[in-house]
Amino acid sequence: MKIAATRPLPGPAWDELDDVVVGERPDAEILIVMNEPVPFDALPALRLVANFSVGYDRIDVAECRARGIALTNTPGVLDAATADLAMALMLAARRRVVEGDAAIRNGDWPHLVAREVTGATLAIVGLGRIGSAVARRAAGFDMRVIGVRSRQGDLDAALREADIVSVHAPLNDDTRGLISRERLALLRDGATLVNTARGAVIDEDALVDELVSGRIDAGLDVFAHEPRVPEALIGLPNVVLTPHVASSTVETRAAMTRVVVDNVLAFARGEPLPTPVL
Ligand code: DGY
Repeated sequence: MKIAATRPLPGPAWDELDDVVVGERPDAEILIVMNEPVPFDALPALRLVANFSVGYDRIDVAECRARGIALTNTPGVLDAATADLAMALMLAARRRVVEGDAAIRNGDWPHLVAREVTGATLAIVGLGRIGSAVARRAAGFDMRVIGVRSRQGDLDAALREADIVSVHAPLNDDTRGLISRERLALLRDGATLVNTARGAVIDEDALVDELVSGRIDAGLDVFAHEPRVPEALIGLPNVVLTPHVASSTVETRAAMTRVVVDNVLAFARGEPLPTPVL
């Protein structure tokens, strides 16, 4: 089949695909993307979108459905890497790791007093595969975990109670702006907000205001308008920033490629798709 990809994927499984064009291919039947908008009208023969990402919030699922185009993603293989980065951001933000590093590189030796991670109350917003992997790690830090599945009542209570909030909800119509300005105001003074899910799950303007005030701190891997990061965050000591790298380890990215290739090969053979979204 005729395959196009917006980028070559890392790992050995990639070499199992013949005849992939990286870039434009108007006759493509299969398109491999990384959670990117699909140019449907430019690809009239398109039959499968294979997404190198578990999140597909930038892909028009309704349009895929209307055109009879299948869609796959990469669930399951990036849970550990994403949970690891959530823990890293929690630890870095709470223990002021980046601030200390920057001070030393600047020739300073400040007396930094941080906040504890061990024993903290952790609210996990979105208790799916990744959220559950964070909960397992949190147990090793003797944390008290409050898992929140829905956007109703229990979320507000959890935000009020938590020392640390870690966001793991997918971005969709139900979760866009879920952590609103009003909900951010529920956080305790000195609380830490970690987001490795999608920036738009949080009201980013409100989050910036809270961080600028210094009332809370944060570890952020994702932003509402990537690659743009709100300018106001750049000089703040109370936020640790990473460039959407939660799944970006050699091992996990190779495993994600394996899933993409398995979906493409199954589709080409007319077999059931291993990880269908549609
Ligand atoms: C995912 O898989 O959704 C990661 O955020 C990478 O986009």
